[in-house]
Amino acid sequence: MYGLVNKAAQDFVIKGHGYDVWQIIKENAKVEEEAFVSMQAYPDEITYNIVGAASEHLGIDAGDILEGFGEYWIEFSMVEGYAHLLDLAGRSFPDFLNNLDNMHSHIAQSFTELRPPSFYCEEIDDETFRFEYHSDRPGLARFVVGLLKGLGKRFGIEVDVNHLGNIEEKENSHEYLIKYHSK
Ligand code: HEM
Repeated sequence: MYGLVNKAAQDFVIKGHGYDVWQIIKENAKVEEEAFVSMQAYPDEITYNIVGAASEHLGIDAGDILEGFGEYWIEFSMVEGYAHLLDLAGRSFPDFLNNLDNMHSHIAQSFTELRPPSFYCEEIDDETFRFEYHSDRPGLARFVVGLLKGLGKRFGIEVDVNHLGNIEEKENSHEYLIKYHSK
């Protein structure tokens, strides 16, 4: 994945556990780069290794790490200069969810090697969505839970996300039930 993602993972660890802990996790994950370059595509293995090494060193379930990381990603992308993209993607939480594919298409104009995920949103009532996540990468279902919670924070609303499981036994497609309401 792009260096921007690995940089966010690094920041997330440093913010929660300090720079020295990051150095240990980085070494255990066999990351050799001095620093990640945001616009450079790295093998996915690097991102997965960071999550795995963080989980092992901190004794935290990898799914919980991914969820925390997803939540942090929203904050991170805002301070890293992508706030305008988030603003463009929708004024309300439902608009935003329906615009995620457009947003990643837009991002792919500058991140030309992007392999973006895809989402589908079905309104059940004015507080509930069925939400689909499709990827060609395994293991990131909980990352999406964190992203949705981070978006809730950004919109100042309560978001409750229930990961229902895989879709039609497709390994990297997941469905969620999202309930949201204003605070
Ligand atoms: C302005 C904000 C955002 C930027 C700049 C951004 C950019 C990116 C980038 C660079 C990647 C790595 C993909 C690759 O290297 O091939 C990625 C992956 C991903 N993004 Fe976004 N993204 C943003 C917001 C979001 C939001 C709000 C969601 C909410 C659901 C989201 C969901 C994902 C997921 C799930 C992946 C993992 C890739 C996969 O499943 O295959 N992103 N994004």
